Amino acid sequence: MIYPKGGFEDWILGSSPRMTEKILVPRPRMTMQKIPIVFMSKSYIPQDQYFKKAKTLGYRARSVFKLEEIQNKFHILKSGMDVLDLGAAPGSWLQYASKIVGPKAKLIGLDLQKIEPIAKNIKTFVADILSPAAENLITKNHPTHFPLILSDLAPSTSGTKEVDHLKSIELNERVVSLAEKFLAPHGNLVLKIFQGADFDSFIKNLKRQFSRVTVFKPKASRDRSFEVYVIARK
Ligand SMILES: C[S@@+](CC[C@H](N)C(=O)[O-])C[C@H]1O[C@@H](n2cnc3c(N)ncnc32)[C@H](O)[C@@H]1O
Repeated sequence: MIYPKGGFEDWILGSSPRMTEKILVPRPRMTMQKIPIVFMSKSYIPQDQYFKKAKTLGYRARSVFKLEEIQNKFHILKSGMDVLDLGAAPGSWLQYASKIVGPKAKLIGLDLQKIEPIAKNIKTFVADILSPAAENLITKNHPTHFPLILSDLAPSTSGTKEVDHLKSIELNERVVSLAEKFLAPHGNLVLKIFQGADFDSFIKNLKRQFSRVTVFKPKASRDRSFEVYVIARK
């Protein structure tokens, strides 16, 4: 059975080196892999309806449907709007956003991984958003504020929920500091966060800086995933 490209956001049941017990192993990154179905968790359906729909519609990832749900509920994307997308690879959010904002708007996407070209009005860069270089890249390529900043950033997961949660918090604290600098007044920030012990205090701090903060779990987000999205209006 063939499983799709992806990061370490998904874990699967595999067998230990001596084949004596089942253990969690990361689904391999960036390669088409053959994984025996016998080791798969019952609740995990890799090629689910969203995966198939994304493929049919030409989107690079099933995560596009999370943004679509956010859009249908919060109407954050509008025609002509410039967009900054953090953690943008392989590029399905950029594909979706560019359809709504249109060819005159400018979109910038940053990721640790290279994003294959999408359209002329979309510039993408390989950059670590935690580095000062990322900030310089944004300033250089888009000197004015963005009315919308998206972040679907996900750390490479360790399999330990609290560790992954703290890595997600670190990324999101950086996203918030970038939003302080690059988000326009009354602009919207969308971010993804892995829930855990520091979630409530993170949201509390966000509420001090933004006029409206809403936590949202899209249907396209897998039930077993502890990710949620936050839509914050400046
Ligand atoms: C779930 S994927 C994003 C999917 C994307 N929204 C799409 O629709 O194609 C999360 C991304 O965050 C990126 N990422 C994680 N840590 C990062 C960092 N420090 N700087 C930049 N990108 C990072 C990963 O490389 C990965 O591509």
